[in-house]
Amino acid sequence: MVCGDLDADRVARLSAGEVPILEAGLDDLVADGLRSGRLRFVVGAPAAARDNAFVFLCVPTPQGDDGAADLSYVRRAAKEISDVLIPGAVVVNKSTVPVGSVAVVEQELGRADVAAVSNPEFLREGTAVSDFLHPDRVVVGAHDAEVGAAVAALYDHLGARVVLTDPASAETIKYASNAFLATKLSFVNDIAAVCEAVGADVDDVMTGVGLDPRIGSAFLRPGPGWGGSCFPKDSLALLKLSRDVGVEFGLLAAAVHANHAQFDRVVAKVASALGGELRARTVAVWGLTFKAGTDDLRDSPALAVTERLVARGARVQAFDPTVSTRRDPIPAEISLHHDPCGAAAGADVVVVLTEWPHFTEVDPSQVRAVMDGCAVVDARNVLDRRRWVEAGFGYIGVGRS
Ligand code: UGA
Repeated sequence: MVCGDLDADRVARLSAGEVPILEAGLDDLVADGLRSGRLRFVVGAPAAARDNAFVFLCVPTPQGDDGAADLSYVRRAAKEISDVLIPGAVVVNKSTVPVGSVAVVEQELGRADVAAVSNPEFLREGTAVSDFLHPDRVVVGAHDAEVGAAVAALYDHLGARVVLTDPASAETIKYASNAFLATKLSFVNDIAAVCEAVGADVDDVMTGVGLDPRIGSAFLRPGPGWGGSCFPKDSLALLKLSRDVGVEFGLLAAAVHANHAQFDRVVAKVASALGGELRARTVAVWGLTFKAGTDDLRDSPALAVTERLVARGARVQAFDPTVSTRRDPIPAEISLHHDPCGAAAGADVVVVLTEWPHFTEVDPSQVRAVMDGCAVVDARNVLDRRRWVEAGFGYIGVGRS
């Protein structure tokens, strides 16, 4: 396998076995591939595409100014490889792209002897290697069923269910999946708010709800809101796409709105733990990434909450196991610390925003000893409430009275 990237420095590091992101199992996989000679990294798309029967486009599709996915990287990669593709090559689009993008790739390729198909990915950051090796399904969208079957055959050894369809349906499956999951989470977070108001426990409620196989128990954990490089961007792209084709997708718009409201709810909990006023109070933030198991800060709910705390005048001291130095997009006002207790020193309240195991392992009485205040807001419901209360904390979770 030959992987191409524009960034020569990244290619050099990968060729030396240095994986620049935190992704469980990826270091070993890359090391194995390099050792066996089955994996190479090269600079530029043409160098990777030359002479190969299947060429996967895995370029970013960032959010454009109008909310739609920006296809410029997809276009550029397709254009660049057009001349070097062998006759009969299949260009497989893995990037999350608006419906109709296979046609865009075909247009940029400008080659009647080369096929373009859609093969969306459903990998989660942090568990991407395992998700790839144990897929729920393989989706391939092709105009030509034989070409689609040839792409699906690449995954035969994984034994997954295969959905062979047309390009527009494959592209829609990707957006619909992410939008559905995001909507499910907004639903859970709103139910959590109802639970707080009626004295129910959201964890028990979701256990009961999730046992219905029509609903399923996955993706029912309440939290500070959903984020990451996919759900926010893909939800807005699907909303834009729907508007463009004259479909009113009020449900998805409401899910996005509810997510922002969830950030505000967490801030309101912190304020209420401090008697209502955040100005000049010190807040220890535990966790900055958009979820545990990744070092990705893009569209992190933890940062959305942190920015709101800073805007309301709080002093924020943060710890995240993957963040040792300030980098984009961490607000300049917050101080970074090397461990949970360091962030909690002198704080009035601790707020758990990412479900890192480090936080469940901390002894609450040690935290209490270094703090000025004695409140904890557990926006991920990961702490052992009893232990924290016994250590003298006022505990506020999500969806628990
Ligand atoms: C998501 C999808 O889960 C993948 O299937 C998809 O391939 C990927 O986007 C993509 O489009 O590339 P990912 O962004 O890695 O994967 O993150 P998730 O694990 O889905 O989590 C998204 C957000 O939901 C995080 O902020 C997470 O903390 C939150 N979440 C997730 C909850 O609050 N509760 C849950 O029960 C699950």
